[in-house]
Amino acid sequence: MGIGGPASYDPAKSWCALTLEPRWRASVGVWALVISSGRVSTESRADELWWKTGVFYEIYLRSFADSNGDGVGDLEGLRRRLDYLTWLGVDAVWLSPFYRSPMADFGYDVADYCDVDPLFGTLSDFDRLLAEAHQRGLKVIVDWVPNHSSDQHPWFIESRSSRDNPKRGWYVWRDGAPDQPPNNWIASFAKEPAWTWDERTQAWYLHLFLPQQPDLNWANPEVVDAMHGVLRFWLDRDVDGFRIDVVHAIGKDPALPDLPGAGRSHVMINSDQGSQRLIRGFRALLDTYPGDRTMVGEVYILDTARVASYCTSDQLHLAFNFPPIWTPWTAEAWRQQLDIAYGAFGAVEAWPTWMLSNHDHRRHRTRYGSEERARAAAVLLLTQRGTSFLYAGEELGLQDAIVPPDRVVDPGGRDGCRAPIPWDATPTHGWPVEPWLPWPPEPARNNVATLQRDPMSILHLYRRLLKARRRSAALQRGDWKWLASPEGVLAYVREADGDRRAVIINFTDEAVSAPLEEIWQVEVASNGVDEGEPYAGTVAPSTGLLLGAVT
Ligand code: GLC
Repeated sequence: MGIGGPASYDPAKSWCALTLEPRWRASVGVWALVISSGRVSTESRADELWWKTGVFYEIYLRSFADSNGDGVGDLEGLRRRLDYLTWLGVDAVWLSPFYRSPMADFGYDVADYCDVDPLFGTLSDFDRLLAEAHQRGLKVIVDWVPNHSSDQHPWFIESRSSRDNPKRGWYVWRDGAPDQPPNNWIASFAKEPAWTWDERTQAWYLHLFLPQQPDLNWANPEVVDAMHGVLRFWLDRDVDGFRIDVVHAIGKDPALPDLPGAGRSHVMINSDQGSQRLIRGFRALLDTYPGDRTMVGEVYILDTARVASYCTSDQLHLAFNFPPIWTPWTAEAWRQQLDIAYGAFGAVEAWPTWMLSNHDHRRHRTRYGSEERARAAAVLLLTQRGTSFLYAGEELGLQDAIVPPDRVVDPGGRDGCRAPIPWDATPTHGWPVEPWLPWPPEPARNNVATLQRDPMSILHLYRRLLKARRRSAALQRGDWKWLASPEGVLAYVREADGDRRAVIINFTDEAVSAPLEEIWQVEVASNGVDEGEPYAGTVAPSTGLLLGAVT
């Protein structure tokens, strides 16, 4: 059974764009008309769009690379490491928030959507980084946090200053008694009511996350306008798109009804209809720009069919599908997840995404318990139909750091997976000083320089997989179907334009006999063994194989 179909392709959007030169709009505010020579949709087949064929790499900026010796990663530090990304072979970067912020949620509490926090550098640093990434053929999408701002954002400072302030309606305020929150919603992190009582104006404001992260009121058209302005600001600077934070929650039902059970409200809230209406507005805006600008939504709901419903051709290009991140390392569990995801995304002809780790969850190397499994998981991740997202450091086999109580800084308990990237084996691992969080385990072994020197390392495995994916039409955009396989093993085949690849993943800790009907050759093996040799019908314990057809 073939899965999914080509995304719908709208020839009406394939025009030679008359657009505005970014720098003019951004810095001088003059709307100068120039003809853009940017790549437009006509040049790519719908199934060859960069956001479909490419592999993304998430960079949690604070932990990536520090240029100025304050122990926190920054834009200039990342710029100096761009060659590493091209050496590795990723196609696009998702950059975590770098905007002005009091950092209550480490940048997901934005106090100015159109400026860089001094901790991370300046707008010119950003422009330089983006230009140099583009010179290397790397796309860059930036994190956009529309559901809430910081309580230090001038919009909220005004909004809370008085009941008749013009920005009062930009946030979600409700009257009531100080001991009775307006509904039963629970905030993430503290697990307390998602409402804070504001003494000054004697009213409650809503925050699905920390009290320092008040929710914006997207039912107010002025908020929509202001936020479209933010999107334009970054599009004009030439970003390739956005990762949109908690996007499923922005279109709340204005009645704010009680939820049926306990639990974090942002996960349970049913605001799909309202959010999707707003997303269509974002999409229409992005589509006025050349170059296939792309939106990836953090649609943090646990029903994959609902997630896929956000990915129609007039909404998000891509949405994260979270259930695989909690899927244990067993063939049965993964068979089920793959069936669910391909079924749900295929039903609406949407393009799936795949991700095993990010800055909010324990790394999969830690969850799965061994490097062998993490290696096999890399084969699984990078051979699916859809767009795969890597989280910086997984290619080094990094585990979560063990963070002693006196070093805990995140209110959400996520410090472990945010540990800094070790670049080499020196005492501060390529950082000018000790970084803001403790190192992940074994930094003297699991660092870029040491693993680059070892062709059998997990780092080289990722590099070989990325290379294999780049040169294979089957892996980049091919069909996907199951092959018969013994218990504890998954096998599938990918095919496009006569190009074929098979994949076998042995989830068990024993060698398994898994013969295939056709003759195949081992192209990439997660244990590095027998690459280039014919596939002999047995898979080593906890091993993934990418096989090429013998012609
Ligand atoms: C998203 C981010 C997370 C952040 C939260 C609130 O889930 O990935 O890091 O804390 O939104 O913005």
